[in-house]
Amino acid sequence: MKQKMSFVKKAVASTISLAMCLSFAIPASISASAATTNLVDNSGFEDGTTTGWAARGTSEKLTVSTATANTGKYSCLVTGRQDTWNGPSCNLLGKLKLGKTYDISVYVKAKAGQSSSHNEKVTLSMQRTDADGTHYDNIQSGISINENSWTKLSGQYTLSYSGDLTDIDAYIESPDATLDFYVDDLTVSEVSMDPQTDLPSLCQIYKNDFDLGVAIDPVSQLDSSDPHSQLISWHFNSLTAGNAMKVSSLQPTEGNFNFTQADKIVDYAIAHNMKIRGHNLLWHNQVPDWFFTNPNDPSKPATREQLLARLKTHITTVLKHFKDKYGSKNPIYCWDVCNEVISDCHANNGLRGSSENSKWLDIIGPDYIEKAFEYAHEADPNVQLYINDYNLEDNNQKTTDMYNEVKKLLSEGTPIDGIGIQMHILNSYPSVADVKASIEKLASLGVKLQITEMDCSTQGAADTAALQTQADKYKALFELFVSEKQYINSVTLWGVSDDTSWLGASNAPLLFDGQLKAKPAYYAVANVNVLNSEISPESAEFDKNSNKQSDISVKISANGNTLNGIYNGTTQLVKGTDYTLSADGSTATILKSYLSTLSVGTATFKFDFDKGTDPTLTVSIIDSTNGGSVQTGSLKVEMTNAITAASSNTIALRLKITNTSNSPIDLSSLKIRYYYTKDSTQPQNFWCDWSNAGTTNVTGTFNSISAKNADNYLEIGFKAGTGSVAPGDVVYVQTRVARNDWTNYDQSNDYSFNPSSNSNYTEWSKITAYIGNTLVWGVEPSAD
Ligand code: XIL
Repeated sequence: MKQKMSFVKKAVASTISLAMCLSFAIPASISASAATTNLVDNSGFEDGTTTGWAARGTSEKLTVSTATANTGKYSCLVTGRQDTWNGPSCNLLGKLKLGKTYDISVYVKAKAGQSSSHNEKVTLSMQRTDADGTHYDNIQSGISINENSWTKLSGQYTLSYSGDLTDIDAYIESPDATLDFYVDDLTVSEVSMDPQTDLPSLCQIYKNDFDLGVAIDPVSQLDSSDPHSQLISWHFNSLTAGNAMKVSSLQPTEGNFNFTQADKIVDYAIAHNMKIRGHNLLWHNQVPDWFFTNPNDPSKPATREQLLARLKTHITTVLKHFKDKYGSKNPIYCWDVCNEVISDCHANNGLRGSSENSKWLDIIGPDYIEKAFEYAHEADPNVQLYINDYNLEDNNQKTTDMYNEVKKLLSEGTPIDGIGIQMHILNSYPSVADVKASIEKLASLGVKLQITEMDCSTQGAADTAALQTQADKYKALFELFVSEKQYINSVTLWGVSDDTSWLGASNAPLLFDGQLKAKPAYYAVANVNVLNSEISPESAEFDKNSNKQSDISVKISANGNTLNGIYNGTTQLVKGTDYTLSADGSTATILKSYLSTLSVGTATFKFDFDKGTDPTLTVSIIDSTNGGSVQTGSLKVEMTNAITAASSNTIALRLKITNTSNSPIDLSSLKIRYYYTKDSTQPQNFWCDWSNAGTTNVTGTFNSISAKNADNYLEIGFKAGTGSVAPGDVVYVQTRVARNDWTNYDQSNDYSFNPSSNSNYTEWSKITAYIGNTLVWGVEPSAD
């Protein structure tokens, strides 16, 4: 445990400074993308010069050679090296773009005659100078070469830098300081990314649980020309600036605020209806030195008052900028006010001090934390304020220190709303049980919790097993977050895809890979909650009358699930014979050849998907053949609406009921239902105007129902002792329904209404008849 803990610290704490100056190189073995144009002008020295190339040191010589070439006539011979870092370098400034990934390769061959006395190994690297200095990123190191054949070195490189990029070169060196070698055919080509866009939206999957966020860096990921943007707006409903809202980005020099990049994120969030977590207002990293320097004497540190004044100015200016510029549209609903202020080793009663690279505590004293929250609350009282930190997940001393600090802040009345748990974790650490204990401990303070920077490092592994372990970890943790959703209102991933992760692509910590394809971790997270598939329509009618038969087409929104089959009851329909499915799976057509074999009544088709609740299609099967019998049992019901106006203060329903069976029907067991919408809350009244079964024997009751085009039905019955209707005999019933206040009904959409009944009795399947509880006539309306 101890060893693992220190790894976590290393992974997090030291990578902060490392990642600031590192572009990411990943080995050739996991690059599988289609290459595009070579960006190197003088790739193979075929113009007979070394234009575009230079020696890195002063002693080595680059000479164009015809002695050997990987392709064409020429290569470049490197001689006279005196240091391991000496070698040829090709300038690429102006050719590579921020955030883009490149396939890089070069061919190298040892000059003949050195193998006995030299270590014939070479390394391909990138050198880059930006605002933070000069950085060296290896693409492939220590590759053995020989004098008989050309050896290819290759890998991928994603360009990131801070401030301006002033130099970038590809170069080849050797751990053997004096090895002579040839180089040829340097190729640098942009990796074309093809984002996987046919996936269910993660934030939709979690919409009833918590916001799902992502950190954006570089901001150009949001450009519509950048393929990352397609995944960002589809899968996430919350954004965090990976760097663009930090102190060094917003106020690089005193009093000079620059919101250009930050505002781009805000504009994108507004355009895509997303929220933003502000990150961050106070941190010991990515805060310029001038903050802590005495303005009157740069050799001295700032005083408590000076530092507090600067803190207040920074916080106030930043919060007011977004509040004033965006007003009610401002999507930044919360800020990480204090970032990483808890000690990693329980120093200073749990607060990070100078021994852990923070000057805040030493210059101001422990109340700098309260002050920061107070300034933020004063600047914008509507914004929620968080304290954010790493290594809170393993329920150890640091979790306790955070707990105690927040408890103290709350007891002093500090305006703090919640705790951000960063969740930079490893495949191997911490355990889900420890994360659960940490969440519950911190939640017991009564503050909100957010997962603010989640990623899960594979610790350098990229094989199937490591990616599956990672997927399992993500799945278990998302299940935990859902089960703790009463405390957790937001979960943010620290990046969309591995190519731009701050931990480097080789640690593959995110849900999408460098080609923007979903990893096992994506599927694991997507499957914690399942989106139900949907179909439209959900009800339909099929007329068996051969002149009126038609196929029923159903639109399918699978929402990421797979259709296994369509069932009518327990019978599976045969694809191709009973129904067809469009090539893209978006439309199923149930064929009339199949439907016409079904009996009159109701058929329910279940669309069976591998996950989620299966949607159903209810089909009323009728038969209007020869003016037609729609009979389902032992009697026939004909109906007319005596008033066929769409708007009427009376529903006038007349029935003609014929006993078509061979035995008498007891009228007290017979019920007829007429379905309609009440269009009012007024009480309704029923009258029977006339019946040959005895006007006063007829009863009418009103009942609620939740069905398509009906919220109510009138049930007509006969009192006990009314008698029976003999085979072939007919019962007539003439009724009226009105409301207390005699306002109009809108009959036009009523399920049972027949606007064309025209005072002639018509066989009508949209009223139902029952003997006892058995449906003997008509089709019930489908559920709403
Ligand atoms: C990281 C960024 O992702 C990097 O691009 C930058 O170089 C360093 O900072 N904890 C935090 C984040 O609160 O702000 C850090 O972001 C990651 C660790």
